[in-house]
Amino acid sequence: MNILLIGGGGYIGSALTEKFFKENYNVTIFGRSYKKFLETMDIEFVKGDVRDPTSVKNAVKNADIVINLAAVFSDKDASLYDINVLGTRNIIHACLNENISKFIQCSTAAAIYGNARYLPIDENHPISPRNEYGLSKYLAESICSWYHEKYNIPIVIFRISNAYGISPNTKWTTVVMQFIKNAFEKGEINVLGEGKQVRNFIHFDDLVNFFLHCIKTDVDSISGEILNVAGPEEITIKNLATLISHLVDQKVRINFIPTNSAQRASEIFNFSLSTKKAKEILKYSPKISVQEGIGKIIKQISND
Ligand SMILES: NC(=O)c1ccc[n+]([C@@H]2O[C@H](COP(=O)([O-])OP(=O)(O)OC[C@H]3O[C@@H](n4cnc5c(N)ncnc54)[C@H](OP(=O)(O)O)[C@@H]3O)[C@@H](O)[C@H]2O)c1
Repeated sequence: MNILLIGGGGYIGSALTEKFFKENYNVTIFGRSYKKFLETMDIEFVKGDVRDPTSVKNAVKNADIVINLAAVFSDKDASLYDINVLGTRNIIHACLNENISKFIQCSTAAAIYGNARYLPIDENHPISPRNEYGLSKYLAESICSWYHEKYNIPIVIFRISNAYGISPNTKWTTVVMQFIKNAFEKGEINVLGEGKQVRNFIHFDDLVNFFLHCIKTDVDSISGEILNVAGPEEITIKNLATLISHLVDQKVRINFIPTNSAQRASEIFNFSLSTKKAKEILKYSPKISVQEGIGKIIKQISND
């Protein structure tokens, strides 16, 4: 089976690439720049840009499964909508006359739902993007759903919570990874505000399993579905910092950095995602608690 990972060289994409490669899938990565970790794997790299319909069209030709991970995150990025929205449209449009068995769109949970109006947040919860990144991801979802309804493209939308773990291209700027890094290297963790913000983190082992189950699930039971993909529990940022300070085998100071009103307004304090629908359809539930996931990362770092 040929799997095309668009944006597969990034943080999540490289974790998926590594796992799919070990599971003997034929993996192709499409992205703007070659990543060094690919040297260790027999994986085809196709250089291209999702904003260029021709390069996308050529890339999807032999794919059975297309996974779209390509995105930029900053509201200040002038290409935010070109890449996240029009890029998604180019990819899904390119799939129109191809024999694609599944198209998995990687969307976001926290940036799309905003603060909870009820808990836990299921896939029917109102949408209230918390920033332009969230808005762009929601527009991309709408394009996917439209193409599914109009042309029956077998799309699945994953609304992913905050992902963490070590991958061949680890992003140390995400909150869990940054806290661990700073605890190790500086002996301190900086928490914004009082740390009451709530997150629902998903460890890569769980995340990768959601994808593997999706790939193996019969397309008729999954086509057109939107699924929350999240870890098994939520935690406040303060408790996360405390947990990491206990798990790291050295003294760690936790600093609370005052926030301004704009920062507080964009924060999420009430958040918990339901993964019941994913469990019913994919037959998989997340298993890795935050404590276990962080323990795994610390062990990996300590062994390197
Ligand atoms: N990380 C999370 O916790 C999280 C949570 C929820 C949802 N998501 C979603 O999951 C996806 C992957 O996230 P990530 O954290 O792995 O991001 P990432 O590390 O920044 O990876 C994004 C990838 O997109 C590629 N890309 C960006 N612009 C492109 C373009 N114009 N054409 C082709 N490729 C392009 C990049 O390739 P180059 O480097 O070669 O340009 C990069 O490999 C995103 O769609 C994101 O919205 C992530």
